[in-house]
Amino acid sequence: MSEAPFLQACHNQRAIRVPVWFMRQAGRSLPEYRAMRGAGTILEAVRDPDLATTITLQPVRRYGVDAAILYSDIVVPVAAVGFGVDVAPGVGPVVASPFRSADDLGRLRPLDPDADCPWVGQTVRQLVTELGDVPLIGFAGAPFTVASYLIEGGPSRDLARSKALMLGDPQLWHALLDRLADLAIVALRSQVEAGVAAVQVFDSWAGTLSPGLYERHVLPASSRVFAGLADLDAPRIHFGVTTGELLPLLAKAGADVVGIDWRVPLDEARQRLGPDVAVQGNLDPAICLAPWPAVAEAVRDILARNDGRPGHIFNLGHGVLPQTDPDTLARIVELVHAEGRS
Ligand code: CP3
Repeated sequence: MSEAPFLQACHNQRAIRVPVWFMRQAGRSLPEYRAMRGAGTILEAVRDPDLATTITLQPVRRYGVDAAILYSDIVVPVAAVGFGVDVAPGVGPVVASPFRSADDLGRLRPLDPDADCPWVGQTVRQLVTELGDVPLIGFAGAPFTVASYLIEGGPSRDLARSKALMLGDPQLWHALLDRLADLAIVALRSQVEAGVAAVQVFDSWAGTLSPGLYERHVLPASSRVFAGLADLDAPRIHFGVTTGELLPLLAKAGADVVGIDWRVPLDEARQRLGPDVAVQGNLDPAICLAPWPAVAEAVRDILARNDGRPGHIFNLGHGVLPQTDPDTLARIVELVHAEGRS
């Protein structure tokens, strides 16, 4: 398994091919997902290990990607400790009673994965058996991105309430982020114990912050998450969107691999990050909806910018859009495997 191209690239080593997987490879772009998914919310679906296993495997079987990602969501741990969060179809996480004051810290008790969300470990164990040589990626939300949902109560463009709390009550802010860091550490450690081969920390909305705010108010908690996983034998990926100006800080948090969206060309991102960290990305998911020659050109451009350096995991710069034709993703995998050098 340590020979798997995905894991070799995570370790910044040469691999027999450039590995590729897609964020949100499981989900609404796949007809077999829509057929299986049923009527409940995703938080109900993930509690069924057989269903979650099948959904996780669907894109692996269809695309021949080099890694699977657990079918779950970044709000599973906060939901499991009873904070009161749901995921609304087409919207994302929603919180009926958002985080407002120090009293709300009491709604974020420590996570006991075996008691609070035993289905996660069970799904991981089933998947490891089914996947054989294909590594399984576990994941959690970074403290900042999860906090933003708890504070805003739902998706938000500007995260104004979150920034107001960060700057208006830094002590409460850091207490909140510390609790969320603990939840992420416990959740990720239990996923690794159950058998995931690598973990990805999603700080999807970190790019809404200036480097100064990120460094002062987010980096300490995210660094704690990465440090809390350092003794495990699982590479750690750190991802966010519009993080071009934050890339060195995302690496500084302790990541082995930094995810890059499409706004910074891969060679420029490499320059900002230095040679010691691997990179994951960075095809614009919207380009997957263009005619194939344009897709192929964009894929080849990314491969050329990496220029054969080890430690490149091909991926999209953010999740697969629901309108994406699955055949396009299958062709991308084929092209990266045929032409990528590392
Ligand atoms: O292939 C995979 O990546 C599957 C696992 C996965 C899901 N969510 C399943 C999911 C992962 C890694 C996530 C992470 C996640 N969840 C993030 C970080 C990644 C990113 O996109 O930046 C975030 C911000 C969330 C919160 C969230 N959950 C959003 C914004 C949404 C979309 C709402 C929608 O319907 O458009 C969800 C729901 C969700 N999570 C779906 C899936 C497959 C789709 C809804 C469903 O089938 O009910």
